[in-house]
Amino acid sequence: MKTERKTLDRALSRAGVMSRKQAELAIRDGRVRVNGLRERDPAFWVDLSRDDVRVDEQPLARWQPLYLALHKPAGLVTTRDDEHGRGTVYELLKDVPAWIAPVGRLDKETSGLLLFTNDTDLAEHVTNPTSSLWKTYEVHARGELDDATLERLASGVTLDDGPTREARVRLLAREAGTTRLALSIHEGRNRQVRRMLEAVGSHVLALHRTAIGPVSIGDLAPGAHRKLRPHEVRALRGD
Ligand code: URA
Repeated sequence: MKTERKTLDRALSRAGVMSRKQAELAIRDGRVRVNGLRERDPAFWVDLSRDDVRVDEQPLARWQPLYLALHKPAGLVTTRDDEHGRGTVYELLKDVPAWIAPVGRLDKETSGLLLFTNDTDLAEHVTNPTSSLWKTYEVHARGELDDATLERLASGVTLDDGPTREARVRLLAREAGTTRLALSIHEGRNRQVRRMLEAVGSHVLALHRTAIGPVSIGDLAPGAHRKLRPHEVRALRGD
């Protein structure tokens, strides 16, 4: 069997039992045993293929990876608990039995494709800028942006945290003092698309993510979610 050496807190979150933060608390509270002995150090190394790990006396179920695509509507925040009491994306995932976390974030006012998983390795791979997965957005922007402006967006604009890397830009329409475009980036900086449009003197009126690498939102209805297909998970991993 493959070796599954991980720190205890990470092993619990990987097992889909709880978040890493919750795992750390559970371990420090003495709720976790490794091979019969209470273990209070979250950084204790375990090998899930050999060690018997139990939480509240319950053996860790074998880890089942879960990968979901959600069509996030605008207006919900990408967090589990919002300190201001705003609606969160987890309200749409009440039927999901496992602990899962979003892969990256979308702003409250952004709609579209948001992935969730309990596979932290895959999540790290997808959010890592070097994975070169393109994230594609449909942007509705203020102003009829000319070709030179679209070229600037594609070749890189300077933001306050540095220049953006090359992007792919496709004009969809110029209409009634606005522009619709498909913009693909493979970084994931905070509010990056909104800041890119501000940098060229425009402003985002609406933002919708249509794809992350090989996964497209397709006809998934707003608020609905679906499991990723095995070939989509393999392609996200780059297999
Ligand atoms: N870029 C943004 O500005 N906002 C998002 O939600 C995603 C990308």
